[in-house]
Amino acid sequence: MLKNFWYAVEFGDKVGRRPAKVTCLGQDFVLYRTRRGEVVCLSDLCVHRGGALSMGTVKGDTVACPYHGWEYEPGGACVRIPANPPGRGIPGKARVDSYPTVERYGMVWAFLGDLPEEARPPIPHIPEHGDPAFHAVHVEMEFAANYERTLENVVDSAHIPFVHGTTFGDPDRPEIPDYTITLDDWSAVADIRLSSAPPRGLWGVLARHRSRPEQVTVTNGWYLPNMVKIHIRLPFGDMILYDFNIPISQDRTLVKILGFRNFLTGRWADGNARRRIERILLQDRPVVESQRPELLPFDLSDELHLRSDALQVAYRRRRAQLIERGWWVGGDDVVTGDGPRRTATVIPSPARRDDPELARAWVHKARGGSGAPVSDDTAT
Ligand code: FES
Ligand SMILES: [Fe+2]
Repeated sequence: MLKNFWYAVEFGDKVGRRPAKVTCLGQDFVLYRTRRGEVVCLSDLCVHRGGALSMGTVKGDTVACPYHGWEYEPGGACVRIPANPPGRGIPGKARVDSYPTVERYGMVWAFLGDLPEEARPPIPHIPEHGDPAFHAVHVEMEFAANYERTLENVVDSAHIPFVHGTTFGDPDRPEIPDYTITLDDWSAVADIRLSSAPPRGLWGVLARHRSRPEQVTVTNGWYLPNMVKIHIRLPFGDMILYDFNIPISQDRTLVKILGFRNFLTGRWADGNARRRIERILLQDRPVVESQRPELLPFDLSDELHLRSDALQVAYRRRRAQLIERGWWVGGDDVVTGDGPRRTATVIPSPARRDDPELARAWVHKARGGSGAPVSDDTAT
């Protein structure tokens, strides 16, 4: 799992004035909105006795821990300890990590890392959002699989005729012609020529009177840390899926999808569109959950790659560079979902870098990141 990225952690309409727990990178976070509507993202781990702030209450712009009522402001500092008599100060250590947030494309993005603003990798661009020609549905589904396995699955064209032979793949024409990848530091995208089966059901009715090309171009690619775009050109319009593979822990993934279409854009067709996406995910799920080893190997030579796997190979190469840079989160950094623990670490937030003196004083230690020279991280 990689820190120092903007993670789309929740759909914006799911976050309000009640605290909401989200899990990512094996860590729990609490999300809530201030009175002005800005989204706050704090480590969910109260520094007093480890209570879950997400079970507490939002008071004004603060969140109060459900256990002893300590109140934390959006910057993460504790501003009230009810057990203290009046006049007693609040220890400087009484603070939790606060992560920058941005609301974009209907998603809440949290920056899970400690890089200063100018050094942060970009949030991928989603041009269909806000385009009146497009309409989107939201879909989500949990996989008992590692997020890099689920991510690679979505950029893997060669599985389509086999796993999706009854939905959109064509089992009789499984070849993948060689494709060219457009690569930058944060993404890899390719146009891939695929043979596809004619759509059925409601969409089949739309396709009935149109000529169907032998092959269609599918634009497919990954955007770090965990998004995959797949643009499918149907005879009657475009279907563009943005698939966020959220690492709950090393072996559990919450897949959230923004599914855009520029045909049948009425809300009445949403249920049908959502069911199609869910059916595809349900075809992938048992296959991906059965992959071994569960975690994506670090060494390229541990699995056999073909030309048609070029997008996955590009992912593994880029990931190796970022691991080299110290952005990997795994093993002892994982707090959630790996059995009982006696210590808790957190993902370092930008405040730790801004104030190294304070960084040493934090109750919950961060592995890696804190105090590291910024220049190491800005080089690409
Ligand atoms: S555990 Fe949060 S206030 Fe005590
Ligand atoms: Fe699939």
